[in-house]
Amino acid sequence: MKHQTYRDLPPLAGLCTFNQAARPGLMIEKCVARLKRYHYAFKRLQEIFTARITAEPIYELKSAFSLHAYLCSEHVMSLRTRVGEMREPPLGLDAIPSEPLQIFFDEIRAAPDNAQLLAGLYERALPALDAALARHLEDTNHLADAPSVRWIRFARLEIADMLAFGSKAVAQLVDNKARVAMTSWLTLLDECLAAAGQLNGAIEPVEKAVTRIHSAKPHVYDGRPQRDERFRDPWNQGVNPEAFLYDPAMPARAKTLMLYYRRIREIDVPEMMASIIAQTPDKPAAYYRDMSRQLWDEARHAMMGEVGFVASGVDWQLARISWNWSYRLNTECTPLERHAVLYFIEQGLMGRTGKRYEMEVGVASGDALAGLFQDYDWADEVLHARIGRDWYVAAMGDPTKAIAYGDDCWSRILNNWRAVRDQGLTQHENWWPALYRAACHSWGIDPDPKVLAYDQTYEDSRADLKHVSTSG
Ligand SMILES: [Fe+2]
Ligand SMILES: [Fe+2]
Repeated sequence: MKHQTYRDLPPLAGLCTFNQAARPGLMIEKCVARLKRYHYAFKRLQEIFTARITAEPIYELKSAFSLHAYLCSEHVMSLRTRVGEMREPPLGLDAIPSEPLQIFFDEIRAAPDNAQLLAGLYERALPALDAALARHLEDTNHLADAPSVRWIRFARLEIADMLAFGSKAVAQLVDNKARVAMTSWLTLLDECLAAAGQLNGAIEPVEKAVTRIHSAKPHVYDGRPQRDERFRDPWNQGVNPEAFLYDPAMPARAKTLMLYYRRIREIDVPEMMASIIAQTPDKPAAYYRDMSRQLWDEARHAMMGEVGFVASGVDWQLARISWNWSYRLNTECTPLERHAVLYFIEQGLMGRTGKRYEMEVGVASGDALAGLFQDYDWADEVLHARIGRDWYVAAMGDPTKAIAYGDDCWSRILNNWRAVRDQGLTQHENWWPALYRAACHSWGIDPDPKVLAYDQTYEDSRADLKHVSTSG
């Protein structure tokens, strides 16, 4: 189509060419039908990533699943907004758009090992979703459907990031033997997509019945935390980092190591929060988005601790990163009780001795990274307090009741803390001197004898146990 633009200016706000804008595309009904399928895919992916965080032993995968679950939850929200703009309340977003597509995601959720899970997510589901979005850009009218086009461009950026991580993880963790063993299962996934008319439903469906393999049995959520071999001695309670942190006689520089320890130990928070999300169905989409955001923040806090150790030249395996908190909450409490404990503990972080103090120690230490990480950690915790009010307190009805219930649930765990701690699962080795020595070596300073001599475990007092595991 020939059309001279005025003074050679780009037409149509730079959105697209006249040729593109003049080409008819998807009518609203077809467009919405596709958007609903993308929504279903992101919702299922968020569910699957979250469901696998706790029982995934490999720390790097645990962290990546935390991020990828959060990204998916944001796209679920964007899609709900977009569908709502297209003459569609009622949104009908709870309906399953296609049975073979449901089986496709059920199968990935039920993948019995890492190799199949990674291949299912990063070699089938996310590429199929990306292909569907690419096809939308080809099929739709870029002027009329500009809001969808805008969202798709953002979504594809993040899908590309997820795929970049996933392809590297697959290359490292899926060997030839595993690939051969999963051939028929991958074929089943392809058949599901074919029977669904691909993820977007835009292709003529292949008329062929699909038979479930892994998802033939009902889905059972596994909420027991697992860790890889770098996390040795996970019941160890031999060092009390908070007592050191609040001791005015101890130097700030050494305290940064305890701060980094408190951060990396936070990997128990995603492990615990994932179980709340996975076992709390039928909440509004905003609940899953907010909870996923907090979960991802906590994974990020753990990685800040990891980076702190790396930057200090210290191998974090010298510390014993415990799992007492996530393990016990996940195996002894209901999802609501867990949320109550989380809220109760995080409320306690807002006082003078909480997050502000950690930031001040970080700044005073001369380690600019510790100050910076604690500053952001504090800001995140303020957000988490808000998320707690919006969902947990609102569900409980009033703030006083919400706090009291959290206190009760946490007390139940603390009451037999000693019994569980001392059941012979660990020798409570004091790992601190070796870690501090390694840091001093890297910093090029002589160890301070009083820091080296620090040897304090948790007392059985309530005040001492307040921080016993998580740092929120
Ligand atoms: Fe945190
Ligand atoms: Fe938090």
